[in-house]
Amino acid sequence: MTHHLKVDIPDYRNRLDDMVQGILGKPIDRFEGPLKVAGRATYAAEARPVGLVYGVLVQAAIPHGKVLEVGGVTGVLAVIHDERMLRRAAQGMAKTGPMAGPDTVDYMGQAVALVVAETFEAARDAALNLELRYSVEAAAVNPEAVEPEFPEKKQSSHGDLDQAVKEAAFSIDNVWHTPAHAASAMEPHAAIAEWNGDSVTIRAGMQMLSSNKLQVADALGIKPAQVRLLAPYVGGGFGSKLGVNAETIAAAIAAKQLGRPVLVALTRQQEFDLAHRRSETRQRIRLACDTDGKLTGIGHEAFVSNLPDEAFSEPVTQATPFTYQAAHRQIVHGVARVHRSCAGSVRAPGEAVGVTVFETAMDELAEAVGIDPVELRLRNIPEAEPVTERPFSSHKLAEALREGAERFGWSRRKAPRERLEGEWFVGMGVAAAVRVNMLIESRARVTLKADGKAIVETDMTDIGTGTYTILCQIAAEMLGLAREDVHVELGDTNFPPASGSGGSFGAASSGTSVYLACEEIRSLIATKMGCTEEELTLQDGMARAGNVAQPISQLLDGPLVAEGHVEPGNTEKTTRQATWGSHWAEVAVNRWTGEVRVRRMMGVFACGRVFNEKTARSQCLGGLTFGIGIALTEAMEHDPRDGHIVSRDLAEYHIPCHADVPHMEVHFIEERDAYVGPTQAKGLGELGICGAGAAVLNAIYNACGVRIRDLPATPDKLIASLA
Ligand code: MOS
Repeated sequence: MTHHLKVDIPDYRNRLDDMVQGILGKPIDRFEGPLKVAGRATYAAEARPVGLVYGVLVQAAIPHGKVLEVGGVTGVLAVIHDERMLRRAAQGMAKTGPMAGPDTVDYMGQAVALVVAETFEAARDAALNLELRYSVEAAAVNPEAVEPEFPEKKQSSHGDLDQAVKEAAFSIDNVWHTPAHAASAMEPHAAIAEWNGDSVTIRAGMQMLSSNKLQVADALGIKPAQVRLLAPYVGGGFGSKLGVNAETIAAAIAAKQLGRPVLVALTRQQEFDLAHRRSETRQRIRLACDTDGKLTGIGHEAFVSNLPDEAFSEPVTQATPFTYQAAHRQIVHGVARVHRSCAGSVRAPGEAVGVTVFETAMDELAEAVGIDPVELRLRNIPEAEPVTERPFSSHKLAEALREGAERFGWSRRKAPRERLEGEWFVGMGVAAAVRVNMLIESRARVTLKADGKAIVETDMTDIGTGTYTILCQIAAEMLGLAREDVHVELGDTNFPPASGSGGSFGAASSGTSVYLACEEIRSLIATKMGCTEEELTLQDGMARAGNVAQPISQLLDGPLVAEGHVEPGNTEKTTRQATWGSHWAEVAVNRWTGEVRVRRMMGVFACGRVFNEKTARSQCLGGLTFGIGIALTEAMEHDPRDGHIVSRDLAEYHIPCHADVPHMEVHFIEERDAYVGPTQAKGLGELGICGAGAAVLNAIYNACGVRIRDLPATPDKLIASLA
């Protein structure tokens, strides 16, 4: 039986709070953790089907043109140069993004051929020696040198911003640059494809299996029913595995041709070229306010880039329309078409760079006005979404700012350059955290077996976020079972299609589908107990109603099976849904070397119900860490001549490591959001990133009086200004 819910009205019942098992929300460890550290969790590249052969992708050595001829090599099983090969990472939830024509090269490093051999070494050797002949076309590779497109839907203007700036008591008007970012998941992309007749089974690192299945079918020209995807363990995605990547389709084409299973795994360097990047951005922010620091004007212009014809463009200004009040507002969004690698979603697309830059602008304005930056934010929190006047589904920015200031010791903050410890200037910074909330259609099947144990099945993925564990917790709470008695199976498209992992929507979307299936099973048990579902108490394998108590297993004469199916409805239109928080950083800046050390960092977040305090905290710790990366270290550099990626390994592209990451604290504000459905949980995964870097940059200014608007704030830039 399917329990279907379209979230059209708020659900104030707090049903999960009525449950008595006491497992939901608890900071329990991830079940698959021991498997991962012991090497027993099998990632995509680790399966060894009989007859496996190895493919290595060959990459284009020109930025734009055509492949005229593919040379021959010996000692290999096949050299594949097929028009179905995916030339770009397919991004998004629909079908595939546009694929280039048969032999078109759109950027340097693009996958253009696959060499397959009996061993990886033979394939790699042949791939390195494969000669390609091209015709070369002129290619723009520098976004700053290209006239941007201005997609109509992404521009908006209310009131008269220019006038507001002219009449303002205080204003700021500055330009920031953020570089391209690489997702850099620990597990590089890999796929093993194997055909059985006309059906293909692919093990691959993927975030969203149900849409990936459609994308694979589309790319290969077969029906979705002929595709089975398996991704039981995924070593991080950060956006790079939202769609289907070149290796997956190449492996499938080769496996069909050879009649053998084919493995194609990317090297770390290929990962930089072939997975999509976050676009670099240029952002101009104009803020105007009155003498009290009340905003009168907000202007946010964002310029990003992508390949010609790509639909995605980094939604830099996504949170700008509703974060702060101001009568006069203008948003500009420009996209430069360049021959750099495909741009797509990477770790909180939009807010990661948009909120980060905006929140440093707010810091600049606070200084111009001469008020505390916390106070400036508090004075400009809107009652409802500006312009549309839609109410917020829940909104705890003010609480997050106040609680954070208290916990962080904000009152001890001094003026710039006033705190010098040895050769280190020390300062504190604050920023708001904000990220849009989304619910995505999702299904799950829950089976309560005759022995009283439960199985949860869905094609949802666990990309290291804790999905196995939280879905178990939801089912165990609803069904009154111990965690050991709930078994969760994920990552197989033979199971009901889920939201997948992305955009912070995974936990709440797939969690709601599990909740609904369990609610249905509770109803079935209630019928057997002769009570209503609301009157039923399930705990430790016992069912109770009134003064009757029975072991659940004794009530069953066979398994109870239910499918939960949730889809977004009216509430996402009638309310503005977002998650909120505050970021805090204390940094030390070396006055001679310009080195920045983050000394401590803290985040206070409100995201509705928290399913597991530990996995939720881990997401936020990761977010704060990315904030350090965005502020201080991460930059994908493109060669200005041909657009090739210069910093294409983890030595050159610096993700903060242990030595860069200080003591961090994460606090959650208790919240229930009725508008997002019966679990009252909003998305959390990316909130910790959105603005975290601004707290670091603002702390740098507070420490040494230097504003770096060209990210990341590396020592060379700081030295230049400190002198
Ligand atoms: Mo995310 S960048 O939507 O995986």
